[in-house]
Amino acid sequence: MFSTNGLIPSGSDDMHKDCERIIFTEQQLKSRIKEVAEQVDQLYKGKRPLVVGILKGSIIFYADFIRHLTAPVELDFMVVSSYGSGTVSSGKLKIKKDLDNDVKGRDVIIVEDIIDSGFTLANLKALLLERGASSVVIVTLLNKQERREYDIKSDFNCFDIGDEFVIGYGLDYDEQYRSLPYIAVLKASVYSGE
Ligand code: IMP
Ligand code: MG
Repeated sequence: MFSTNGLIPSGSDDMHKDCERIIFTEQQLKSRIKEVAEQVDQLYKGKRPLVVGILKGSIIFYADFIRHLTAPVELDFMVVSSYGSGTVSSGKLKIKKDLDNDVKGRDVIIVEDIIDSGFTLANLKALLLERGASSVVIVTLLNKQERREYDIKSDFNCFDIGDEFVIGYGLDYDEQYRSLPYIAVLKASVYSGE
């Protein structure tokens, strides 16, 4: 049995049943995101950073994060695919939706849900620097350090987790569970088909 801390939101019972255990509650997430956003904000006094959210996983984290920034920010989004980021190295990142803004000379903050092998962020950072960004800072909600295969690190990370598949707060399994207001470990039976 997992602990729910009495926090099962109404309407999410079906999704909740697929959770092995909750690892971060909404309150824990919000308070840590505020703390991290305030640290990031210190870097941008007198600047106008472009905050790039990587869709779709970062959407809820992104919305929480930007509301704690006092610097005047511009918002932009990308959809990228990290297919092929498994054991076989796959070359270039596939861009499904590109930025609306030119990043040349801009201070860019990349906001991503999770850094796993590091394929996505290593390639994305290189791409934005190649396009002439003045600076690229990576902010992540979660870090799976033991899964890293690429030489890249998050500049600001909210929580370290182990090698477990997590869902909720924007993160999906097969496009489901993104709307759960907490982060939970997915039951293995959901993906092993038991
Ligand atoms: P990377 O390119 O291997 O670092 O993978 C990053 C992407 O993999 C993230 O943006 C997520 O979309 C996905 N991902 C990795 N681990 C998880 C997880 O535990 N739950 C949901 N998505 C994950
Ligand atoms: Mg993602």
